[in-house]
Amino acid sequence: MTLTPESELDLLFNPSLIPQSVRDALPSDLHIRPQASSDHSRNHLPVLSVLSPTPAVAPAEYERQFHAQRACPDTYYTLVIISRETDQIVATGTLFVERKFLRGLGLVGHIEDIAVSTSQQGKKLGLRVIQALVGISEGRGCYKTILNCSKDNIPFYEKCGFTLKEHEMAKYA
Ligand code: ACO
Repeated sequence: MTLTPESELDLLFNPSLIPQSVRDALPSDLHIRPQASSDHSRNHLPVLSVLSPTPAVAPAEYERQFHAQRACPDTYYTLVIISRETDQIVATGTLFVERKFLRGLGLVGHIEDIAVSTSQQGKKLGLRVIQALVGISEGRGCYKTILNCSKDNIPFYEKCGFTLKEHEMAKYA
């Protein structure tokens, strides 16, 4: 199975928002694009499971969630890096754009759910996903881009240009 052309896919956002510099930096056997409604069949959930438990979801439920997110305009930007040879996803990440009343009705970009399949880690794919998401965030005019991560991942995000700020708190239901 070779790469499905973007023209045949139902995409989450306009692919032109992905910086050309990130496309150019990827190895020639990989392609970066917005999430597609059919990405359930391209290993999206197993790739996410390297980050956190990702229970099975039926393809129809996956598609319903995709369309619910796309119905919120200019808010969800999930992208994938995909093998041209196998048409399977090897890395993914999401930018969520929040509208604020402060900072003159400013926008904040939240980076979420970064995952690179285990066999592909250490090849700069995580870096490329972050560069693409930050590029989209800044392109949208977000005054900052933020994320939460484990202590172990701090050096990775520092290499991506982030600095440690504040503390994270959580209350699980
Ligand atoms: N500790 C120290 N340095 C690291 C680490 C780490 N844990 N991970 C990566 N780096 C360094 C690399 O050595 C590289 O440095 P270099 O430029 O000097 O060579 C640089 O960071 C870029 O690394 P990549 O090759 O792009 O990293 P990779 O593709 O493996 O992606 C990631 C990193 C996303 C953490 C990946 O290993 C992964 O999917 N891990 C499991 C899931 C996870 O923890 N995701 C992040 C959750 S936080 C969030 O979602 C907001």
